[in-house]
Amino acid sequence: MQTLISNRCSSIQSAVPESYVLPPEKRPTAVPPCKTIPVIDLQGLDRDRTDLIQQIIKASQEYGFFQNPNRTTLRIAFIYKNTIVTSFLWYLLFDKSWGLRGVDAGCVVVVGQEFFELPVKEKERFYYRDPKQICKFKRSINYEQEDVHFWRENFTHPCHPLEDYIDHWPQNPVRYREVFGSYTVEVRKVGLLLLDLICEGLGLECGYFEGDLSGGMVMNTNYYPLCPDPNLVLGLPKHGDPYLLTLLNQGHVPGLQVLKDEQWLEVEPIPNTFVVNINHMLQIISNGKLKSADHRVVPSSVSARTTVVNFIRPTNDCLVGPAKSLLVKNCSPPLYKTITFGDFISTYGTKTHQGIDPLERVML
Ligand code: OGA
Ligand code: NI
Repeated sequence: MQTLISNRCSSIQSAVPESYVLPPEKRPTAVPPCKTIPVIDLQGLDRDRTDLIQQIIKASQEYGFFQNPNRTTLRIAFIYKNTIVTSFLWYLLFDKSWGLRGVDAGCVVVVGQEFFELPVKEKERFYYRDPKQICKFKRSINYEQEDVHFWRENFTHPCHPLEDYIDHWPQNPVRYREVFGSYTVEVRKVGLLLLDLICEGLGLECGYFEGDLSGGMVMNTNYYPLCPDPNLVLGLPKHGDPYLLTLLNQGHVPGLQVLKDEQWLEVEPIPNTFVVNINHMLQIISNGKLKSADHRVVPSSVSARTTVVNFIRPTNDCLVGPAKSLLVKNCSPPLYKTITFGDFISTYGTKTHQGIDPLERVML
């Protein structure tokens, strides 16, 4: 691990090391920002819940467009069937007991960055050696096995139930446990609320996502160091997330791109915003009604980029398949097999890395 790109001094960073340079056909080209972000105002939740949920589902299916320029405080963007649906959460967050109450979404990005900027010896103890490790620090994606490396470092660990894991988390930066602990509790509430709305919108029985289906949560912090030539590399290649739902706090440095109609578009950072995207398990459960969105990351030549990502996930032995009530209601055959989440995740990484859609294996 001597070759951590986060710990190289700036003089060495004057060129991209050859092992990170992608073949020409895989290099990113300049992409336009996604200017037509549909917006749904979640303020209406208490006034007309049914209407609001229908808006979310409809917007997501029809590439509908909703905007309410009057609310600017905290937004959530769904990447949903390759459409980005941005929703405002002002009312939910501060007038209710859910939401990021008293937690500063910017602070967690700062503390995450502080972790990556620690001296190598502070991070060494977390280096990924064994899949059973709780905290894992990794370079790229699969550094030892891949042909070309990706311009990122990653620190990941479970974060729910908090009391099971927090004692294993880093104590340096000193604020790490406190800041990440309170953040994940609040983000989980927002995530579960969104799952409730999606559940209702799909017409599933109340509480469908409760229990093992949403029983776990992963904390995933990415660091994309300043890059001397972002035209040659990717921070993360094209992928869909394998879990249920992603809540991405991408800070203020651009880099996330989403694939929409075969075209890559930049998902511009909006202050205090989550980008929420549908994951593979939600695509399976909804029998393809909801689509997991393909995305990738390009690093920046202006600034290092730190992102803090939470994935709500099923437990490993949880069975995941198309929801029966949905099949009956729509008189439609299942498009996917029922599998355990552990089985799916065991081949997800290799498949995605080989450019194969990991959902193919579970299609009927
Ligand atoms: C991920 C991911 C996006 C980003 O961690 O799966 O897609 O902008 N991250 O860091
Ligand atoms: Ni992702």
